Amino acid sequence: MLDRFSLHNANSITFAQSGSGKSYTTKVEILRQLMQGTKVIVIDPEREYKNLSESVDGTYIKLSTRSKDKINPFDLATTFHSKDDLSEHIQDLTDVIGLMAEGLDKSEKAAVDRAILKVYKKAKKSQPRLQDLYAELHDLGQLQLCERLERYISGSLAGVFNSHTNIELDNRLVIFDIKDMASNLRPIMMLIISNFVKNQVMASPEKRLLVIDEGWLLLEHEQSARFVAGLVRRARKYYLGVSIISQQANDFLHSEYGRAIASQSALRILMRQDTTTIRGVVDEFNLSEYEQSFLLTCERGDALIVADQNHVAVRVVAADKEHPLITTNPTEIYA
Ligand SMILES: Nc1ncnc2c1ncn2[C@@H]1O[C@H](COP(=O)(O)OP(=O)(O)OP(=O)(O)O)[C@@H](O)[C@H]1O
Ligand SMILES: [Mg+2]
Repeated sequence: MLDRFSLHNANSITFAQSGSGKSYTTKVEILRQLMQGTKVIVIDPEREYKNLSESVDGTYIKLSTRSKDKINPFDLATTFHSKDDLSEHIQDLTDVIGLMAEGLDKSEKAAVDRAILKVYKKAKKSQPRLQDLYAELHDLGQLQLCERLERYISGSLAGVFNSHTNIELDNRLVIFDIKDMASNLRPIMMLIISNFVKNQVMASPEKRLLVIDEGWLLLEHEQSARFVAGLVRRARKYYLGVSIISQQANDFLHSEYGRAIASQSALRILMRQDTTTIRGVVDEFNLSEYEQSFLLTCERGDALIVADQNHVAVRVVAADKEHPLITTNPTEIYA
């Protein structure tokens, strides 16, 4: 398979209908990237990468209300280098808070900005947490906003969003499993993980691939869509490839940020489409009549790869030894 790191950027998007082989294809690539020394991080909303992780001794991090693994979105320990980094980090954090609060109006946004700065000023040795921000916002009189954030700092969600970080990205394969998070919290967690990864990648650039499966979840909200588009745009600087996988080609290509992501991805992997998605894909990637009918009729594992000006049809075949590690077909797993 084509090496994404030889293209002008190492990002990709993969679009196809359910069951056509998106995750399978991605896992085949992950195994090959690992062999070449690339470090791989996966955000896995559907628990599709567990076997793969076990087979190569990956680090498997489960994030849910019952999990011991934690990420503190306010953690600056490994990331703070300069004033510029801090202002960027504050913007990213504001987006996280905005997603939690289901949107921020102008005055709330300004208050969050001020409160974050204050929180970091006050924090000396230990890292601040969400509850510290909550207290500042309370002092600033943002009671309505505090009410919306309250659920994240008390009760069962406090353990998820108000704890100190206790994980690391030191292994060559790290999977973040968020299947046990309630569906309305998944986009928030995906954004927090992406943020964490971005900070780590900026602090120590090396050849890495970040895979975001079910990536449309991040495009549903403006805050996370903007963040990912920014990450994809600047990934090359940090020797990072971002691979975004999505069933929802339409949603993706109708969003301003989705289209930005598509145009910043040198590698486009298109697999079987249905009649509702084909038009958007054909228009976006200038596909021929022949390619259009290929995508409507091809089999599981078949793909049309669009890289720069080149269009190539391929069939994804795993080695015999690889297949059992990466299939999710229940009749094979439970046979
Ligand atoms: N190239 C292939 N060779 C052999 N089997 C394959 C191939 N691609 C997919 N499969 C089989 O099809 C199943 C479904 O594929 P996969 O999980 O990759 O679909 P998907 O596109 O990610 O679907 P979803 O959008 O629902 O997550 C796999 O578990 C595997 O058993
Ligand atoms: Mg999948």
